[in-house]
Amino acid sequence: MAKHRVYVTRQIPQPGIDLLRETCHVEVNPEDRPLTREELLENVQGREGVMGLLTDKIDAEFFDAAKAIKGYANYAVGFDNIDLEEATKRKVPVSNTPDVLTDATAEMAWALLLAATRRVVESDRVMRSGKWSGWGPLQFIGGDVTGKTLGIVGPGRIGTAMALMSKGFKMKVLYTGASPEETSPVLEKELGAKRVNFEELLKRSDYISIHVPLNAQTGHLFSAGAFKKMKKTALLINTARGPVIHEADLVEALTRGEIAGAGLDVYEFEPKMAKGLAALNNVVTTAHTGSATVSSRTNMALLAARNLLAMVEGRQPPTCLNPEIYE
Ligand code: DGY
Repeated sequence: MAKHRVYVTRQIPQPGIDLLRETCHVEVNPEDRPLTREELLENVQGREGVMGLLTDKIDAEFFDAAKAIKGYANYAVGFDNIDLEEATKRKVPVSNTPDVLTDATAEMAWALLLAATRRVVESDRVMRSGKWSGWGPLQFIGGDVTGKTLGIVGPGRIGTAMALMSKGFKMKVLYTGASPEETSPVLEKELGAKRVNFEELLKRSDYISIHVPLNAQTGHLFSAGAFKKMKKTALLINTARGPVIHEADLVEALTRGEIAGAGLDVYEFEPKMAKGLAALNNVVTTAHTGSATVSSRTNMALLAARNLLAMVEGRQPPTCLNPEIYE
């Protein structure tokens, strides 16, 4: 029997490719860079399955080019790069990679929180410059974490994991969901967390960690108005999606001292950062590496491969984003 023809838009950890190769004819973008739009549209022609990244736009034009497609597997949990409605309309199943990166991303949020509040990167820079003059009582004084109030925006899988990790720091936890009705029985039971509205969370939190998906409701959720409501001593952490923050407004707020700092793993216009952000000492920036651990990235590759195999074989994938097309 002829092997299914699948295309992978960028190199991923080898176990995922090996799994696909057991039953499929697999072609992988040989270069370690995202495909241009033209390259993407050209390479998906005639493929039954495509595995792509959060940087690949999967929309009507994509599906017009990928006429033979039986399924699209996103190598990411976030799927704001996919026009899900269009895929469903065309009865093309699509999948993502939830769960396997939950702890890694929550850990990254903590890495940013601790690094930003304890000025780790700033003092690292001084050490490397050779300019450190020795211990001083007034040097690099940061904020406390233990006993402070953590505000979680989006108590889903990653937001919940991030909040549960605060146990060791004996923090008070507030949370707000994407909708006012969204509750988290787990956070309430395990941490005595309190559900509050967005405004109250802004006003009362010492640290705010963003864990909402990017969509029409959450785009620019954090802009000038929100920063003005936050404590002057508060820090904002974002490991979700960049456009949830109006980045130019954030630069303003940080420059004016409306908030104390930020830890960012994602950016509004990746791979670029807003003008002025790089010059600020009260920001810690990482390169969208929330899921970048060996096990998470390997398990993402395996899950995305299992999803793609199921779809090209006409079965419902394990983590399907539009299961209604199988009804
Ligand atoms: C995702 O999965 O959505 C992350 O942003 C990358 O792992």
